Amino acid sequence: MITTKQAIMERHSVRVYKEDIIEPSVREQLDAEALLCSQESGLTFRIVYDDEKGFDSALAHYGRFRNVRNYILIASKGGRDVDEKSGYYGERLVILAQQLGLNTCWAALTFNKKEVRKRLEKDEKLVIVISLGYGADQGHQHRNKELIKLAQIRDDDPKWYREGVEAALQAPTAVNQQKFRIYRQDDVISIVPDGRGQLVKLDLGIVKYNFEAGAGKENFRWAEPLV
Ligand SMILES: Cc1cc2nc3c(=O)[nH]c(=O)nc-3n(C[C@H](O)[C@H](O)[C@H](O)COP(=O)(O)O)c2cc1C
Repeated sequence: MITTKQAIMERHSVRVYKEDIIEPSVREQLDAEALLCSQESGLTFRIVYDDEKGFDSALAHYGRFRNVRNYILIASKGGRDVDEKSGYYGERLVILAQQLGLNTCWAALTFNKKEVRKRLEKDEKLVIVISLGYGADQGHQHRNKELIKLAQIRDDDPKWYREGVEAALQAPTAVNQQKFRIYRQDDVISIVPDGRGQLVKLDLGIVKYNFEAGAGKENFRWAEPLV
């Protein structure tokens, strides 16, 4: 299996999938990780397999999704920092999926909300979904904003910081907006949103997951406790 860091570099959004079904041994690994993410976050991470309806709608097709047969559903029963947590733990599942040879795409809008809602329990509120399957291709590298607009950079930055920033720049963000800024004070890191709204908070959680995996948890501390 490729490493987490490698998977972060190789991941791109994929919206068109092959017909291949996800085999039982892969499902087991994904389901086990989804359960851990649910337990650690207090949110619900549920993987729906072999359901073509979740991304079958005019909006999903408009969003250029084709042949989506599986997806990760993220839901909450309330609590604090729901969006940021959804981003952080959702990206953990996305990167595992990439390591297992699968492809993904986060979708806040372009899916069939009515169908996906049928998969929720009564007290659960849908946060976002992520399409899942074997991609028709591996996607494309997104454009990045200028490095100095996203992260504080100095000549003497340690290697772990550069690797963290590199992984953060590789994170998926809604419409590739990259509305975040990374700051370093010795080994203390803060990543702050550069804007407002639900999607910016989701993005922030995703970016934090990538930074942490790229930099290595053992090398730094978060300025603010992680959600
Ligand atoms: C929170 C979030 C919501 C997104 N919502 C959608 C969506 O509704 N439809 C869609 O086609 N792509 C959606 N995307 C995918 C982004 O467009 C994509 O991640 C971004 O363009 C960067 O490209 P990359 O993932 O290939 O690096 C979303 C991504 C994120 C992180």
